[in-house]
Amino acid sequence: MKLPPLSLYIHVPWCVQKCPYCDFNSHGKKGDIPEAEYVQHLLDDLKQDLQYVQGRKLHSIFVGGGTPSLLSADAYKRLLDEIDFLIGFEQDIEITLEANPGTVEKDRFKHYVEAGINRISIGVQSMQSDKLKALGRIHDEQEAVNAALEAHLAGLNSFNLDLMHGLPDQSLDDALGDLSAAIALNPPHLSWYQLTIEPNTQFASKPPKLPEDDILWDIQEHGQALLAEQGYEQYEISGYAKKGFQCRHNLNYWRFGDYLGIGCGAHGKITLPQQNRIIRTAKIKHPRGYMDLTKPYLDSMWEVTEEERPFEFFMNRFRLQEPCPKQEFIDFTGLKVETINTMLQNGLDKQLIEDLGHSWLVTNKGHRYLNDLLESMV
Ligand SMILES: C[S@@+](CC[C@H](N)C(=O)[O-])C[C@H]1O[C@@H](n2cnc3c(N)ncnc32)[C@H](O)[C@@H]1O
Ligand code: SF4
Repeated sequence: MKLPPLSLYIHVPWCVQKCPYCDFNSHGKKGDIPEAEYVQHLLDDLKQDLQYVQGRKLHSIFVGGGTPSLLSADAYKRLLDEIDFLIGFEQDIEITLEANPGTVEKDRFKHYVEAGINRISIGVQSMQSDKLKALGRIHDEQEAVNAALEAHLAGLNSFNLDLMHGLPDQSLDDALGDLSAAIALNPPHLSWYQLTIEPNTQFASKPPKLPEDDILWDIQEHGQALLAEQGYEQYEISGYAKKGFQCRHNLNYWRFGDYLGIGCGAHGKITLPQQNRIIRTAKIKHPRGYMDLTKPYLDSMWEVTEEERPFEFFMNRFRLQEPCPKQEFIDFTGLKVETINTMLQNGLDKQLIEDLGHSWLVTNKGHRYLNDLLESMV
């Protein structure tokens, strides 16, 4: 078993208001965010996880939410400087921050860059005002455009636009219009998610009218063709990037890398090669409980058993379009390839995966029926 690269996820749990489709650990803010206090908690939380670093420097950091762009550049400068001091950064570290266009005034991204952030992910969702309204977003189309322009001017290494499709009453033309308008802003990376109705959201209790299945299929087919035509290579289910601009942080998740997770509800995955163990951690979810000094930050910790490892490995690895080296399976799960031959046979028989000798490759059919492929492996 070998140590994979180490990333860090930082969760910021506040938003201006809760969107009706969102099941992320986010809370509409009431009054001011306790910024300085939260940064101190994040650092104290991190100090308890330092035992898991095992000599590595950080490969990437992702500040997600919630709406991390509600916190100031000063807060991130303090946080990142201290993390660099405590763990250290790889020379070409990627540091991403999620931003909501409704919280981006002039020069905000420039100040984030001065604080050490080098990649921004902007939650655009749609470029049409009626759709933004239906999604309960706090921004309009112009603010999305302005945020992308700010990102171009800020001196970042890269930026991403998050876009959703399959929106209430969306036609094929609407969806392609959204994609074209987003592409016109020339982002190096585009995340293009199909809207899902999650339990315990407003949309689940009062479902909007979503497009029929055949429209969803057409949106997917034509959207993918448009993205490819415009030089965006699909490298994951919802991830599209221009050459050299894939998200290093997400790639590390999907390649079964390690990550520490700090902040409310953050998850971590850590390999302990000397003990042949993989553990997962979760921090206390609610801001009140997380910032309660009488409680530890850690909410739960559990073992990924040898039996569970192959499925967990492939569930992540098979999202990617790239071949999966067999050696990585051996190194990062601590298991032999022979232990999973039967598990993979069904996928090989149905041509959902190919055996390339030193690696496995998910076929186009395999990507289309990824859930069937994974189910056939349990
Ligand atoms: C962690 S969220 C938060 C980003 C930021 N707070 C925002 O909304 O602008 C990351 C992305 O997941 C996507 N997302 C959230 N809920 C979704 C859902 N129910 N179905 C599909 N995509 C979703 C959105 O595109 C969103 O930008
Ligand atoms: S702004 Fe983002 S994280 Fe916050 S509620 Fe909306 S979708 Fe969820």
